[in-house]
Amino acid sequence: MTKQVLLLPGDGIGPEIVAQAVKVLDVLNTKYNLDINMTEGLVGGAAYDVHGHPLPDETLKAALAADAILLGAVGGYQWESLDISVRPEKGLLGIRSNLKLFANLRPAMLYPQLANASTLKPEVVSGLDILIVRELTGGIYFGQPRGIRTLENGERQGYNTYVYSETEIKRIGHVAFQAAMKRNKKVCSVDKANVLEVTELWREVMTDLAKEYPEVQLSHMYVDNAAMQLVRNPKQFDVIVTGNMFGDILSDEASMLTGSIGMLPSASLDAHNKGMYEPSHGSAPDIAGQNLANPLATILSAAMMLRYSLGREDLAVKVEQAVSAVLDQGLRTGDIFSEGMTRVSTSQMGDAVVAQL
Ligand code: IPM
Ligand code: MG
Repeated sequence: MTKQVLLLPGDGIGPEIVAQAVKVLDVLNTKYNLDINMTEGLVGGAAYDVHGHPLPDETLKAALAADAILLGAVGGYQWESLDISVRPEKGLLGIRSNLKLFANLRPAMLYPQLANASTLKPEVVSGLDILIVRELTGGIYFGQPRGIRTLENGERQGYNTYVYSETEIKRIGHVAFQAAMKRNKKVCSVDKANVLEVTELWREVMTDLAKEYPEVQLSHMYVDNAAMQLVRNPKQFDVIVTGNMFGDILSDEASMLTGSIGMLPSASLDAHNKGMYEPSHGSAPDIAGQNLANPLATILSAAMMLRYSLGREDLAVKVEQAVSAVLDQGLRTGDIFSEGMTRVSTSQMGDAVVAQL
């Protein structure tokens, strides 16, 4: 049966990079019997400008009905002064929570062709292959109560609540342990259990859960130490599992070990592998509309979509091989450019991947 894919290009470089992934999916549709129907919707600032809300009802409906979603990026300077309740980011957060996309998979792997693009020494990062499993629908991002209140002395106070239930911790833990079973069988759970009770519980639940996965080696690390270890010796990690905010921060850090955040895809999955796929990077408003952005993270996100939500591992591998082949050809967008390589635009990079397919 034809699967429905919702495209949400969003803001900034979003439309340009999603367009490249669509070219790739079009080829798979016509040449490799990928049976998907793509429709487009508005999210983020683009949706706010038309509907006054970053997640309009019709977008949410389409998202709920789709088999998978491919998102570009949201946000930009012109929406930064908006109230937090209608900022572009709320569009993204709204899809994550309404669709219960609690499991965020953020791989950070170094393409050998790009070893020189990292700011770290090649011996520290060569062969790097980490998976960050970030809890995405709980923690301090969604905890209640939250807000800004006025105290008796007239001063204002901002507050958020950091909460995790055992159920929430367990289900993200299972995702991490199961991923580790297919990889190097190591899970490092990152918390701040020396200070925060919520992560004391997190650590306890992860420790219990590990008993169900005797082959997997579980370790625990405080988040400050994890941030340090990631740049000191990143190859000690296989799977890192952590809460929403720590995962947000550590995944940006991990991405830069690989040279460019422009290369890294992500998947946000519910309990049934329905998912939203997006590059790990943001909307890069400074280079938007200039055909400069690296579309490979989005193309690789489409590959993850093929793998997890569309049941086409074969095509996922084909796309990943095509990306590797264009890197072998020496094609580079500005973010991954180095001496002796061929500088290409967003659309040229998309065309090169299509040509490989
Ligand atoms: C991310 C982004 C989002 C987040 C923002 C845009 C809300 O930084 O996907 O990592 O913090 O989750
Ligand atoms: Mg982030």
